[in-house]
Amino acid sequence: MATTNGTIENGQPDKKHPMLPRPVCNLEVQHCKIFINNDWHPSASGKTFPVYNPATGKKICKVEEADKEDVDKAVEAARAAFQKGSPWRSLDASGRGRLLHKLADLLERDRVILATLETMDTGKPFLHAFLIDLEGCIRTLRYYAGWADKVQGKTVPVDETFLCFTVHEPVGVCGAITPWNFPLLMLIWKMGPALCCGNTLVIKPAEQTPLTSLYVGSLIKEAGFPPGVVNIVPGYGPTAGAAISHHPDIDKIAFTGSTEVGQLIKDAASKSNLKRCTLELGGKNPCIVFADCDLELAVECAHQGVFFNQGQCCTAASRVFVEESIYPEFVRRSVEYAKRRMVGDPLDPKTEQGPQIDQEQFNKVLEFIQSGKEEGAKLECGGSAIGDRGFFIKPTVFSDVTDNMRIAKEEIFGPVQSIMKFKNMEEVIKRANGTQYGLTAAVFTSSLDRALNIASALQSGTVWINCYNALHAQTPFGGFKMSGNGRELGEYALAEYTEVKTVTIKLSQNKH
Ligand code: NAI
Ligand code: MG
Repeated sequence: MATTNGTIENGQPDKKHPMLPRPVCNLEVQHCKIFINNDWHPSASGKTFPVYNPATGKKICKVEEADKEDVDKAVEAARAAFQKGSPWRSLDASGRGRLLHKLADLLERDRVILATLETMDTGKPFLHAFLIDLEGCIRTLRYYAGWADKVQGKTVPVDETFLCFTVHEPVGVCGAITPWNFPLLMLIWKMGPALCCGNTLVIKPAEQTPLTSLYVGSLIKEAGFPPGVVNIVPGYGPTAGAAISHHPDIDKIAFTGSTEVGQLIKDAASKSNLKRCTLELGGKNPCIVFADCDLELAVECAHQGVFFNQGQCCTAASRVFVEESIYPEFVRRSVEYAKRRMVGDPLDPKTEQGPQIDQEQFNKVLEFIQSGKEEGAKLECGGSAIGDRGFFIKPTVFSDVTDNMRIAKEEIFGPVQSIMKFKNMEEVIKRANGTQYGLTAAVFTSSLDRALNIASALQSGTVWINCYNALHAQTPFGGFKMSGNGRELGEYALAEYTEVKTVTIKLSQNKH
């Protein structure tokens, strides 16, 4: 198991912060191979790829690099596990629920290890990984454990002498392609409903962050899932990822990532076997602040909304619209918040912001900041990198942002707040909806009438009123427009992972 340096007990509270867990020191990475049929395998090609810690730039380990041949083997295993009569298909629905609860128990047991691994791999603050990501994973697994024996069809009152009922069956072999911003959470959002409904899985984690997904492979085996139910193929997008999206024997694919790759995946699905797709893509999410709001609440929520997770969130509050009369005060307070934000070592409990994930994202964010300056936005604070090690960027606030600027139109995915001004409701609705995206939106106001009117007018999968990033396992999450297709979480996700079968029985002519 994980090793410690002997001075800090794994998971024991730090004496200075009695309520807070501490990361594992000198954690050894144990699972770096391809996981198929509950066993660890080297890559068919013999290739490996390096995984780095974005806070230090140091290599953590090498991981076996899956490509098409490995994906084919994983699909074969998942297909065999899905055959009628297999241990998985013969398991009672309540048995699937028990296995999901067992997996949740194991995540709870290894919560400190998983949060430490996630921090090493992504650079996100350890406490955020522990308190937010892991909490979300455990709750999601337990939520779907409860659903396992409640996925049921209907009896349909058809015309004439027939008896008709529907059965909700699992779709089959499901592919999952996950991103690097919430590697474990995005995996569990897919794994929970997929396994609850009785599907089998082939998972490709993002190449930047495969470590927690692979660790979950070991927990899948320990929990007692039959071999082949969950298979994990770490590798790159255009190789292993494309092998999944093009695969003729995968029935469904769930993807979280860029809109560009979402389009490639849907295209591949369409050209191969019309596999179903759920896509969770980008956002350019409006956060609308009316003058009658609780200003301190709005400033704090808008701040956390855009800076959380180093700004690397599809839900990021990346367009803040503020009513004219409170604009100067809103900007002043937002700048105070940004200047106070603690950026640094993700393992330090005081840290609120770690590094960006890699050089590519770091460069992209700095380019956006440069474009903001060139296009005439007012740089209020931040605007540059910090230090020369790791990919740290200062929390950056721009005011006087207008809708035509790149920082107001494109997904930045970094710690950059763009604050705009508006005059009235009609105008702000039009501007908020004036984007190809439609993932989330937030409204701050004390008027219930205004809140509900604007919630109804916004083209957005989620609308938060007087709150931000309020996500729950019970509530569906997904996008309008080019933010994606389908919904994850909640009862709605069950429909994505089931086929409906209609069974119609001819009865004798006599109805009685
Ligand atoms: P990406 O969309 O390329 O990566 C996400 C996942 O897709 C990874 O597992 C990757 O290996 C896989 N992938 C890449 N190309 C693929 C292909 N041709 N076929 C199948 N799978 C493929 O995202 P990337 O390049 O890491 O980030 C670019 C931008 O995407 C970010 O700056 C951000 O704007 C957005 N993004 C949005 C996320 C979200 O939560 N919606 C998460 C990550 C990125
Ligand atoms: Mg990419």
